[in-house]
Amino acid sequence: MTAILVENLVKKYKNGVQALKGLSLTVKEGEIYSLLGQNGAGKSTLINVLTTYLHPTSGSVTMLGKDIYSGAAAIRTDIACVAQRISIDTCLSLTDNMMFQSKLYKIPKVEAKKRMETLINCFELERYLKYPVASYSGGVKRRLDIALNMMSNPKILFLDEPTVGMDIQSRMAMWDMMKKIRDDFGTTIFFTTHYLEESDSLSDTICIMKDGKEVIQGTPHALRGYLRQDMVKISFAGEEEAKDCLKLLKSEFINEKAHLGKDEILINSENSHGDLKIVNRWLLENSIAFMGIEIVQPTLEDVFIRLTSKNEEEGN
Ligand SMILES: Nc1ncnc2c1ncn2[C@@H]1O[C@H](COP(=O)(O)OP(=O)(O)OP(=O)(O)O)[C@@H](O)[C@H]1O
Ligand SMILES: [Mg+2]
Repeated sequence: MTAILVENLVKKYKNGVQALKGLSLTVKEGEIYSLLGQNGAGKSTLINVLTTYLHPTSGSVTMLGKDIYSGAAAIRTDIACVAQRISIDTCLSLTDNMMFQSKLYKIPKVEAKKRMETLINCFELERYLKYPVASYSGGVKRRLDIALNMMSNPKILFLDEPTVGMDIQSRMAMWDMMKKIRDDFGTTIFFTTHYLEESDSLSDTICIMKDGKEVIQGTPHALRGYLRQDMVKISFAGEEEAKDCLKLLKSEFINEKAHLGKDEILINSENSHGDLKIVNRWLLENSIAFMGIEIVQPTLEDVFIRLTSKNEEEGN
């Protein structure tokens, strides 16, 4: 069943900024869905609309079979949202924070205690119980924030950049937590990120968005060619050198999918080791001054460049 269906969503802020420009997407029930986009792409705006906090300018949203406008009150009891800023009360203890949350949702005390114990146990928060919340690291505070939001047993959990600024250990703990929420509680997770590898390794479906619109949506497997395809990168001292070399390279390797980056040339490659050798030899034989050559994984910016050049090739 479809958890969220967004069609042609437009959001124009009062100051004239159009943050969403006709965005459409589909989230399936029980999946981890990631919205991947750079700063200012419109991710938080979309979350604010989906969580009924902001009114869109036009377009339609159906969530759990209900229209978001007429069914807003019912939808609010079925969803939870962890915003970009942490919302826990650092003056209260971990358990007081959780019990306070249950009061907001009017959960009976006995039931609330049971849920709290399950969540503390499931997310391995026991070891923090004896310390004041104010002393927790950013990563643990964020995990507690998510545990709080799970107290209401939401059908859909929205997370806005849950791992931003975290070190790798905290990020991995967060990924485990998100998988547990999907697998043990059956909750649909909708999260935003600008980390390519996070979207790739964690989600069932990825939507890449840019400038208020979806660019492509699919499983990590289907988007593999964009997210994981190796590239051969040649670095230069400046942009002009890179441009000159690209012209020459394209005239000699007609089939190579090479494009210009900043002071560099990137070549999409299915056989990166073989291509690296060939291109390296060609550079040396033609006495081209370059700074380095290596095999790299695409960044989000590279993915956008590829997606845009694909659209141009197709005449879109
Ligand atoms: N309340 C607001 N009023 C006016 N413009 C806004 C408002 N909130 C966001 N914007 C603008 O809308 C655009 C999208 O912002 P949004 O916060 O949705 O992006 P984002 O993808 O969440 O970015 P980030 O990765 O930085 O969190 C930006 O140009 C931003 O400046
Ligand atoms: Mg944001």
